[in-house]
Amino acid sequence: MRDQAKAGTRSVGGQVRTDTVWHQQQFSVGFEYPVVFTSGLFAPENPVLVDVLCRLEKTRQHRCIVFVDEGVLAARPTLPAEIDAYARHHSERIALVVEPVAVPGGEKIKIELHFVEAMQRKLFDHRIDRHSYVIAIGGGAMLDAVGLVAATTHRGIRHIRIPTTVLSQNDSGVGVKNGVNLYEQKNFVGTFAPPFAVLNDLDFIEALSPRDKISGMAEAVKVALIRDREFFEWLERNADDLVTFKRPAMATMIRRCAELHMRQIAKGGDPFETGSARPLDFGHWAAHRLETLTKYHLRHGEAVAIGIALDTRYSVLAGLLDAKAEERVRFLLDHLGFRLWHAALEKQMPNGRHAVLEGLREFREHLGGELTITLLSDIGVGVEVHEMDKAKVLQSIAWLKERAAG
Ligand SMILES: NC(=O)c1ccc[n+]([C@@H]2O[C@H](COP(=O)([O-])OP(=O)(O)OC[C@H]3O[C@@H](n4cnc5c(N)ncnc54)[C@H](O)[C@@H]3O)[C@@H](O)[C@H]2O)c1
Ligand SMILES: [Zn+2]
Repeated sequence: MRDQAKAGTRSVGGQVRTDTVWHQQQFSVGFEYPVVFTSGLFAPENPVLVDVLCRLEKTRQHRCIVFVDEGVLAARPTLPAEIDAYARHHSERIALVVEPVAVPGGEKIKIELHFVEAMQRKLFDHRIDRHSYVIAIGGGAMLDAVGLVAATTHRGIRHIRIPTTVLSQNDSGVGVKNGVNLYEQKNFVGTFAPPFAVLNDLDFIEALSPRDKISGMAEAVKVALIRDREFFEWLERNADDLVTFKRPAMATMIRRCAELHMRQIAKGGDPFETGSARPLDFGHWAAHRLETLTKYHLRHGEAVAIGIALDTRYSVLAGLLDAKAEERVRFLLDHLGFRLWHAALEKQMPNGRHAVLEGLREFREHLGGELTITLLSDIGVGVEVHEMDKAKVLQSIAWLKERAAG
């Protein structure tokens, strides 16, 4: 408690009240979690997982439940056996309470809320307590749903994320947010809950479809554009290696992008986004809306690439950004294999309004407060604005259409 209780406070209206006691309760909690980049995570001789489990209690046998994304399982059917062999090899420290549990991957797990309840039921059935571990192996969507389960069951169970897509390794998995979709709104229900640890294994990326390998690169372009010109230029120079998924280039792209996201969370001053800004969400107001409008046929990263192209064009129209810089952004996104147009950009609502524009309202409402959109004033330099001119947004959409046709 910072202040002594103050009796008889005077309100803004000036009236003195003697029946009001105002305590200013205050404390702060530090957060710390390892983010590890490795390969062969479940090779018995790899100590990373067991070291992480023993981070707080060195000598205990730790009870774990593992959820695995079905998409990962389809690509790597031997995974449950590998996990089982790892746990047996380290049986003094790890006890799997049940065989790895398969759950749907992709947006399906975030849309159909019964999956959340089914996972909670598993935690109940297997007596998972606050000192046990919920381990999630999967893409960003699955991690978001399991993260919510871990954060809300018993008001928070230790949660280890093992991201398996480019996007979840370079962005979503290393952060502090989870959530599921409701009422056709992305992440309407969710919490801010830092994980216990994040373990990125590059081997998982090899099994990923080319579409998902490319999709996740949108977040690297995004964060480079608003934070790190040098990284953008690195992406330009290495685009050939990235489109052919060369391992060293993929590893560097993922790590650099993850580090920039981590730095924003740790040093940006607002890890739990209590202000009105969403500093890392460049291109996202349109992206989230496009994901919903296309009923998730567009991947998050694909929608983000379109959102980036849109807001970059808007930045030019608003007089903030040089058209030559925009050319470079478009060229890089094209080169990486993104299609920078989707017919949903033109979708109209029954009242004749452009459906995508609703994204601005949803974006503002998600945080509350003033609308805050990040635009570009240069490559590597994001700027915040609090208003978007609808005519210029529509002009930007028309421009994207024209360029896609040409
Ligand atoms: N919490 C956050 O801060 C945050 C940030 C950005 C994005 N997100 C969310 O992340 C989600 C997108 O995540 P994503 O791009 O990782 O896609 P995704 O989770 O939708 O996965 C895409 C597909 O790949 C499959 N898959 C996953 N790993 C695989 C592997 N190694 N091999 C083969 N198939 C595999 C999945 O089953 C799924 O079918 C969206 O819901 C988005 O809202 C969250
Ligand atoms: Zn994103």
